[in-house]
Amino acid sequence: MTATSTTPSSAPAPVTDWRARMVAAADDHAGAPLLRGAFRLDGGHGEVRRAALHVTALGVVEPVLDGVPVADEVLTPGWSSYEWRLRYRSHDVTERLRQDARGEHVLGLALGRGWAVGRLGWTGRSGFYADRPAALAQLEVEFADGHRQVVATDATWTAGPSAVLANDLYDGQTVDARRDPGDWAVPGAPADGWGPVEEVPFDTARLTPHAGPPVRRQEVVRPQRVWTSPAGELLLDLGQNLVGWLRLRVRGEAGQEVVVRHAEVLEHDELGVRPLRSAAATDRFVLSGGDDGFEPTFTFHGFRYAGLTGWPGGEEGLRRAVDAGDVEAVVVHSDLRRTGEFGCSHELLEQFHRNVVWGLRGNFLDVPTDCPQRDERLGWTGDLSAFAPTAAYLYDVSGFLRDWLADLRAEQRAADGMVAFVVPDVLKFQDRPGGLPAQESTALWSDAAVWVPWALWQAYGDREVLAESFTSMAAHVDRVESLLSPTGLWDTGFQFGDWLDPQAPPEDPFRARADPGVVATACAFRSAHLVAQAAALLGRDGDAQRYGALAERLRTAFGEHYVGEDGTVTSDCPTVYALAVVFGLLEGEVRRRAGDRLAELVTGAGHRIATGFAGTPFVTDALTLTGHLDDAYRLLLQTECPSWLYPVTMGATTVWERWDSMLPDGSVNPGEMTSFNHYALGAVADWVHRTVAGLAPLEPGYRRSLVAPRPGGGLTWARGALQTPHGRLAVAWELTDGPDGGRELVVDVEVPAGTSALVRLPGRDDEELGAGVHRLTAPGVAGG
Ligand code: BGC
Repeated sequence: MTATSTTPSSAPAPVTDWRARMVAAADDHAGAPLLRGAFRLDGGHGEVRRAALHVTALGVVEPVLDGVPVADEVLTPGWSSYEWRLRYRSHDVTERLRQDARGEHVLGLALGRGWAVGRLGWTGRSGFYADRPAALAQLEVEFADGHRQVVATDATWTAGPSAVLANDLYDGQTVDARRDPGDWAVPGAPADGWGPVEEVPFDTARLTPHAGPPVRRQEVVRPQRVWTSPAGELLLDLGQNLVGWLRLRVRGEAGQEVVVRHAEVLEHDELGVRPLRSAAATDRFVLSGGDDGFEPTFTFHGFRYAGLTGWPGGEEGLRRAVDAGDVEAVVVHSDLRRTGEFGCSHELLEQFHRNVVWGLRGNFLDVPTDCPQRDERLGWTGDLSAFAPTAAYLYDVSGFLRDWLADLRAEQRAADGMVAFVVPDVLKFQDRPGGLPAQESTALWSDAAVWVPWALWQAYGDREVLAESFTSMAAHVDRVESLLSPTGLWDTGFQFGDWLDPQAPPEDPFRARADPGVVATACAFRSAHLVAQAAALLGRDGDAQRYGALAERLRTAFGEHYVGEDGTVTSDCPTVYALAVVFGLLEGEVRRRAGDRLAELVTGAGHRIATGFAGTPFVTDALTLTGHLDDAYRLLLQTECPSWLYPVTMGATTVWERWDSMLPDGSVNPGEMTSFNHYALGAVADWVHRTVAGLAPLEPGYRRSLVAPRPGGGLTWARGALQTPHGRLAVAWELTDGPDGGRELVVDVEVPAGTSALVRLPGRDDEELGAGVHRLTAPGVAGG
């Protein structure tokens, strides 16, 4: 199954008057109550012309109408900054109600704890937004004569128990099939154990239509291997580190419990669960004695391996079940449209690129998260600052990230311009959030306010993104300006800096080579400069001047305090050169020298990576821009640790948090923070798309493209293809033996209708091509 499209254009109109109340079960029913409301359609108004169900929850909700699920969405309504924005989903149910217009109907809502009630963050706390799940639903029915009937959650609804005995996004779900409530949402009320609901105080002004895509099941992955670990646990290998859950069909003795644990890696031949920290990530299924089907949709896990205990028939039984398709992994994430592809002759690089894609898939589960498996899974802003351009090529992330930016703006407004470490900001509920200092704007992380809208503008060319974010972008830069020291540098206060420099000790990821002031001042310059450009685009001339002048002051201060006459930048390490070159802080001879120094450092390190979160997205660009393409390729294709491809040689199927999340001897990095599914260091894929394949927007949204592949690294071919807003843009190049005995570069280009492309090939003059399919050749390319 592949990703399907997002909300259809016939989506129901947003609600203008809310009559529904937020209701919770009077008895919590272990955090997974079922709510139901029965109704009859009003008679005498002709047939149902339109019917729409609008539904949301504090927690997660699965709506059911007359016993049939209303949608194929899961984990609704996801996680937003609930204090200001609770998103609701709208579903067209016209056909459902037309089929049996006169009888009794039942609307059911199955609830779980989700993000609002469950655990969030690494401090063990839960219930940040609500102490029990609650839901709000409004069914609007319009009849042939214009009559409108509204069915809504209120105090007349009833609540009862489900088969779910425990549920938490981090810890997993427990289901007892003996307690299956059967057809609980069909006419004819279930009586046993059902009781009243209570209204929960809630301001409907917080409700907002969900503009982004819902979370859906995307793909099913079958286990590749079944075996028993030395400790006696039955293990499954799915062959891919993924995010979702195991779906099981099983038959066994009533009361028998099947326990499923999850892990991304094996360590000492057992599940390596230490990196999950306090997340139990354990599902428990109690069998009914008949044929049972389990699918724990109120949790999710990041895993490649699963360990099962209590499976009927042991290893043989499990093997048979796997062969029969009764045990499978369901991949779950936001329903995004794949737009960008990449391929090349280098197998490890292709695998790395697949890992980048899986890293996005695992972490774009409603919120762009740092990681999907341990007791964290938060919308760390810096990770996205680094990764947004890559994401915007691979998938259409416009709706997804614009929705997240709405949360960022809401949080920022309430924090006086400060952009939090995480969005939604759950850390603000704690004084020293999980051992970190009190929150203040930090470089790269808070720059998400500017860099993410800018990445969307570049990829999709929709000025509205800048318009809706401009106030937030400017407020971020204003806040940073207020934090500058009298020298004009951003060199005081807390910074994450070049987080996870490979030289930093496992327990001290802050200890980077790069001076935090250099990193922060460079980032401040870039943000001020981008805000000035955004202002100019939006016709805000005064702002353009003001932020342009601030950018100039930052550039001057940076030059005066951090750049030596010989082009040396303070702390003299790859990250500071990468940022200074790519952000445009240096010019002329100084820039050339900085580029040379960067190449010298990169070469001196044996082309092993030496950058953290801040420098990694930019280091290959800086080398390319200053005439060191060969070093960029050697850095990219390095396989010794630390490098981008080292994890691939270790069998990685996702991008790791640390350059050495797994050490060369196969043991897990001793650092307490070690995920195997973090997208930030995969940000180099953006350079791969633009430079190895050679596709970049020359005008935002690819109205005019730059097709400029730069062959190198021994690659003999590469290709890229992108569904731009105007249609398919594609390039494929190959190095072949030319007619004169030398190498020849053959390039096929496809330019979308209504657009043009500037094609720049080594050894040829630039050429402007119109829409259509073209073949070009360039002789004598040495790059391969
Ligand atoms: C997260 C990172 C995040 C960082 C900030 C970590 O725990 O996993 O990806 O950006 O904290 O310090």
